[in-house]
Amino acid sequence: MNRIDVLLWVVLAYASITVFVVGHVWRYRNGQLTWTTRSTQLLESSRLRAGVILFHVGLLMVLGGHVLGIAVPKALTEAVGVTDHMYHVVAVSAGTLSGLIMLVGFALLMARRDTNPRVRATTTNIDRATYVLLLVMLLTGMYATVVVNIFGGGYDYRETVAPYFRGLFTLQPDIGLITGAPWAYKLHVVAAWLLYALWPFSRLVHAWSIPASYLTRSPILYRAAGPGAVARSRTHS
Ligand code: HEM
Repeated sequence: MNRIDVLLWVVLAYASITVFVVGHVWRYRNGQLTWTTRSTQLLESSRLRAGVILFHVGLLMVLGGHVLGIAVPKALTEAVGVTDHMYHVVAVSAGTLSGLIMLVGFALLMARRDTNPRVRATTTNIDRATYVLLLVMLLTGMYATVVVNIFGGGYDYRETVAPYFRGLFTLQPDIGLITGAPWAYKLHVVAAWLLYALWPFSRLVHAWSIPASYLTRSPILYRAAGPGAVARSRTHS
């Protein structure tokens, strides 16, 4: 174990988790008015719709896969009768599909942001850093799932990356488990540490404000403003 390994897999990991937690508390207390998606829907909505739906549906599926593959120990899935082969077939097919959906959504959103001057003008440096990290996560995740597992000899991350990750939360990270992983997995995890550290300072905070009340509240009515607006709206209704 060398110093770089300790730096990447222990120091960076705990620094990122700490910044994630403390950063969120700080942002919540000091940045209520900036706790938003900074939506650009009013500037352009038709190209936004497809991209935003595909990106979030793909992301939710990817996150479900991560909970199953990383948070749930392999011994547990085996205990309930899921064989290695069954797990592999489901993980690779669902992982590829969900990663692709997320990637197409991400590509649509980035193309819209780049080609629409009004949307591009709202893009900040923190946005750019977030998008670069998301792209690295997507590409390395897809490489691991598709190239390593389908076209390569396969790699059982449930014996290595997953227990390393869980070990961080029991304060016993086993660095030896991750240092031998293929480069794509290692780059994926380093990018995740950087993304988590950036999260509280970015528009990603909107993830914790799921607008569930939208489903039950009464619709918002938009009316034209200015002299005669009320009379005009009556004649149109
Ligand atoms: C430290 C946290 C994370 C760990 C340990 C991790 C680990 C992994 C592993 C092991 C795979 C490969 C699965 C395989 O070989 O079949 C994977 C795939 C993937 N990851 Fe992550 N990941 C993390 C965070 C994230 C985040 C935050 C995102 C996106 C926002 C993400 C996006 C993806 C995508 C798109 C794939 C490919 C599709 C899939 O297999 O679901 N990951 N991740």
